[in-house]
Amino acid sequence: MAQSMNLRFVSFICTFVSIVSMISSSSLDDYRAYIVHMDKSMMPSPFSHHHDWYTSVLSSLSYEASPAMHLYTYNHVMDGFSAVLTKSQLAQLEKMPGHLATFEEKLGQLHTTHTPKFLGLKKHAGLWPASNFGEDMIVGILDTGIWPESQSFHDKGMSEVPSRWRGACEIESFCNKKIIGARSFSQGMKRRRENISSTDDYDSPRDYEGHGTHTSSTATGSRVQFADYFGYAKGTATGIAPNSRLAMYKVLFLNDSYEAAASDTLAGMDQAIEDGVDLMSLSLGFSETRFNENPIALGSFAAMEKGIFVSCAAGNAGPHHYTILNGAPWITTVGAGTIDRDFSAYVTLGDQKYGTLIGKSVSPQNLLVERVSIYFGHGNTSKEACDPGSLDRKDVRGKYIFCESNGMLFDEFKSTGALGVIFSSDFGNFLRPKDFDFPYLILKPKTGDLLKRYIINTPNATVSVKYCETSLGVKPAPQVADFSSRGPAERSPWILKPDLLAPGVDILAAWAPNRESAPIGDNYLLSDYKLESGTSMASPHVVGIAALLKSTHRDWSPAAIRSAMMTTAYTLDNNKSVILDLTFGSPGTPLDYGAGHVDPNKAMDPGLVYDIKPDDYINYLCALNYTRNEIRVISKRSEISCANACLDLNYPSFTLILNNTNTTQVTFQRVLTNVGTSSSSYRAMVETPTTGMKVVVKPSTIFFKGKDSTAKFEMTVDVDITDAPPTVYGYYGNSGYLSWHEVNGSHVVRSPIVSAMVSGKPF
Ligand SMILES: *[C@@H]1O[C@H](CO)[C@@H](O)[C@H](O)[C@H]1NC(C)=O
Ligand SMILES: *[C@@H]1O[C@H](CO)[C@@H](O)[C@H](O)[C@H]1NC(C)=O
Ligand SMILES: *[C@@H]1O[C@H](CO)[C@@H](O)[C@H](O)[C@H]1NC(C)=O
Ligand SMILES: *[C@@H]1O[C@H](CO)[C@@H](O)[C@H](O)[C@H]1NC(C)=O
Ligand SMILES: *[C@@H]1O[C@H](CO)[C@@H](O)[C@H](O)[C@H]1NC(C)=O
Ligand SMILES: *[C@@H]1O[C@H](CO)[C@@H](O)[C@H](O)[C@H]1NC(C)=O
Ligand SMILES: *[C@@H]1O[C@H](CO)[C@@H](O)[C@H](O)[C@H]1NC(C)=O
Ligand SMILES: *[C@@H]1O[C@H](CO)[C@@H](O)[C@H](O)[C@H]1NC(C)=O
Ligand SMILES: *[C@@H]1O[C@H](CO)[C@@H](O)[C@H](O)[C@H]1NC(C)=O
Repeated sequence: MAQSMNLRFVSFICTFVSIVSMISSSSLDDYRAYIVHMDKSMMPSPFSHHHDWYTSVLSSLSYEASPAMHLYTYNHVMDGFSAVLTKSQLAQLEKMPGHLATFEEKLGQLHTTHTPKFLGLKKHAGLWPASNFGEDMIVGILDTGIWPESQSFHDKGMSEVPSRWRGACEIESFCNKKIIGARSFSQGMKRRRENISSTDDYDSPRDYEGHGTHTSSTATGSRVQFADYFGYAKGTATGIAPNSRLAMYKVLFLNDSYEAAASDTLAGMDQAIEDGVDLMSLSLGFSETRFNENPIALGSFAAMEKGIFVSCAAGNAGPHHYTILNGAPWITTVGAGTIDRDFSAYVTLGDQKYGTLIGKSVSPQNLLVERVSIYFGHGNTSKEACDPGSLDRKDVRGKYIFCESNGMLFDEFKSTGALGVIFSSDFGNFLRPKDFDFPYLILKPKTGDLLKRYIINTPNATVSVKYCETSLGVKPAPQVADFSSRGPAERSPWILKPDLLAPGVDILAAWAPNRESAPIGDNYLLSDYKLESGTSMASPHVVGIAALLKSTHRDWSPAAIRSAMMTTAYTLDNNKSVILDLTFGSPGTPLDYGAGHVDPNKAMDPGLVYDIKPDDYINYLCALNYTRNEIRVISKRSEISCANACLDLNYPSFTLILNNTNTTQVTFQRVLTNVGTSSSSYRAMVETPTTGMKVVVKPSTIFFKGKDSTAKFEMTVDVDITDAPPTVYGYYGNSGYLSWHEVNGSHVVRSPIVSAMVSGKPF
């Protein structure tokens, strides 16, 4: 019963669900935007630059009413361009020499004060000082733009902008030594709408919504004292890499919701690579198509080849399995967890002997409620308070309402003239700040029972309520947020996704102050800082940590940075239990949290890494049966050899897929690289469930001569899930861990081993 209630709630609150829409074909004319991949090796010699070739090709297409219209030429993310074409122009283009593939435009959607401390970052020890707080790293964020006047982007004490930087701000006043790039890409979106809204958005890098300001300040925000959200979460706000530079590439624009055109997203990533960013974060997603059709997968492949680290939000479509977005293996895919902070409210029962009860609320009203009558409809056999239609204005006006039911009659409450509502329910975990547009307060059912007993036994029951209390050290934390998308990744199930968990619930960061952030009745309160939840908030934490790591280890590849974060991640919460899945409070699995929750200081010194070269990803695509043409579109290489096709990527996690069977055996072959300074040896240790998984590692001890030396090993895993209990969503699987323990040393290099049923969908 509790389960179906929670599920209902999940769908109610996930507003940034990253669903994705292929464009509809309802448009009357057939003049549409396309992304066109070309084989540059076929460029005729008179052209010195591929852009001239493309424009010449476009102008050669015949037309009746509408000439072909060029949108963008892409230099890095792919070889080709985007353009608006009629069906007949497209047909002509597809016959031209050098044409590789064409995809129709599509849309993707959107999916802190305390988190550095929760992550263990300290001013005088560990990764923060080691990296000088991320100095000289440049982080590119693709999002809804930026509010440059926010305190979080001040540049006090920052050194000069590195001379290698090639980026710029479209509006010069946006730039300082913190924000060093701010551009906007709306050509594709403008082909779909006449204009970018002039009342609800800006056709410029300025952020109307607040989302881009939030993600940017989470990753790289400067230190700001006294940030808070109407009294909650007070403290010094700082980004994860407060000395890193920021470049904003605006690609998300408002229609009814925020959407990004594929052509604009590619253009933003292309420019970020051109400008010279070191890392990128994207808190948006397109549907998980094959990677050659997914703009973020394409752009991040090109970035990865240039050594640029890319992290992306895993999506907000949880808690079901196979809901991962941005699941390409060259992306670091980040899920969202809770932190050890909660927002409380205190309920004192009119009769003091019942004492004070503690509940959850982020109602922004800093109000004191003194001895207000409380209404509970229970006792009427035909109806319970909070059932639809059960509230009579004359019963509840000027009172608090007590609700045991799980109904969510938000609108009904507001129209009855009640002062507030106290729920007795488990669903407090699912409420987000924006749901508190009325004084709601949630008590856990056990606590709620005390209130209920008091009301039933007291003729004129009253309550006093005090809001605005921030609690730290809340246990258990982290937990996997219900909305966080779960693995496996539908298009590439052999690689565990998400990779990692990072803070993504009730994160405080800068906001665009022109926007209402706390609705109260019909009024809105404005705030410079805002609490937000989503995998959108988790990805910028990881890109910030990656900036600190890259600043400390200039020679690490994106795969090495990810490996360092994964093999040092933790899977026990602050109460020493396996990280829970918040949805049902049951133990999570690697399909929920990947390798675990990121631990920045440990990631600084992982001992060993599993490194991956661009060619390894191509061998993986070969094994996924991508065609040569599809791989050329992704890799921009004219010669593709699939002689070494291999599903066993040198990844820091191990996945076995069960296809209509309960048993399988897989042998993995992996290579570890010593990133420590001295020679060392490591011994394999395996943790497995009590039954159903057998693991043999050969050799069980490996030796490394010195820095950068490598060692190979082989691991055979036998899985039998016949006796494994199904997950609540009916998927079967089990999991264990392989850890390499340094002999006479302290490094532990841990990887999850996961088995999961196949989704039954095509890749
Ligand atoms: C804007 O959103 C509305 C409602 O979802 C939709 O009908 C319309 O087609 C969208 N406009 C464009 C140009 O995408
Ligand atoms: C688009 O913008 C132009 C110039 O500002 C304006 O003339 C036109 O009416 C706008 N179109 C729509 C549909 O709002
Ligand atoms: C119970 O609710 C019904 C329907 O709202 C109402 O007609 C009836 O008077 C109520 N009975 C009591 C005892 O409050
Ligand atoms: C409850 O309130 C009613 C009406 O205000 C009053 O007549 C009654 O005496 C009160 N009872 C108690 C126990 O306070
Ligand atoms: C902490 O762990 C203990 C032992 O497993 C458990 O009994 C307790 O309920 C946990 N506390 C919380 C707050 O989850
Ligand atoms: C790829 O094709 C081969 C040969 O048809 C087949 O054996 C293999 O299972 C396919 N791989 C995947 C991942 O579908
Ligand atoms: C699972 O088996 C079916 C039927 O044999 C096959 O079509 C499909 O490609 C297989 N899937 C995987 C992931 O191997
Ligand atoms: C796998 O195990 C489950 C649970 O024991 C059983 O119901 C199912 O029939 C088995 N499937 C196969 C393919 O053996
Ligand atoms: C570990 O330390 C012991 C005792 O000092 C020594 O005998 C052994 O050789 C060391 N092993 C390695 C691999 O360094």
